[in-house]
Amino acid sequence: MPDPHRSLAQPSAWICRFAPLVPRGGAVLDLACGGGRHVRLFLARSHPVTAVDRDLSALQDLGKRAGLERLEADLEEGRAFPLAGRRFAAVVVTNYLHRPLLPHLVSAVAPGGWLLYETFAAGNERFGKPSNPDFLLRPGELLETVRGHLRVLAYEDLEVTSPKPACVQRISARREA
Ligand SMILES: C[S@@+](CC[C@H](N)C(=O)[O-])C[C@H]1O[C@@H](n2cnc3c(N)ncnc32)[C@H](O)[C@@H]1O
Repeated sequence: MPDPHRSLAQPSAWICRFAPLVPRGGAVLDLACGGGRHVRLFLARSHPVTAVDRDLSALQDLGKRAGLERLEADLEEGRAFPLAGRRFAAVVVTNYLHRPLLPHLVSAVAPGGWLLYETFAAGNERFGKPSNPDFLLRPGELLETVRGHLRVLAYEDLEVTSPKPACVQRISARREA
């Protein structure tokens, strides 16, 4: 059985699967980046990365790394979206949901760019936290979010066993170039 803590430090298999499709050298937004597992993944792939979280202390080891933009901000204060008007070759969100941000995240996808999103879904309350419906995607919610804006390459809404039992929903969707 995999060590769940070690597994959570590794990039998500979903994000790794689609990372090679992100336009070469294109800017990546990792929203609510936490420990920065996907910040590191995309920096290693030579993408400039904008890392956003209310606490960026876990990125200290990256120092003044070229290509890394840090934005420490509370995304749920109800203020204007701090990246309004910016466009990214990939918008990456994992294990985080604040519903009012969803339209902003779709808008932040540049032509030819990708929304790569994976987080907990309804039903996860059976396995523990998060269990608050505010933090759980409703059935089909990511599909509804991108409908009419992005073309869906892959979508899943399922129970997983690794890195820990959970209900997750995930999408990979692209804006036409
Ligand atoms: C479960 S962690 C996921 C981290 C990362 N995306 C990953 O999958 O490894 C959730 C992250 O959301 C951030 N977060 C929670 N509420 C936030 C808020 N109001 N504003 C900005 N970041 C927030 C936390 O600081 C934490 O880093």
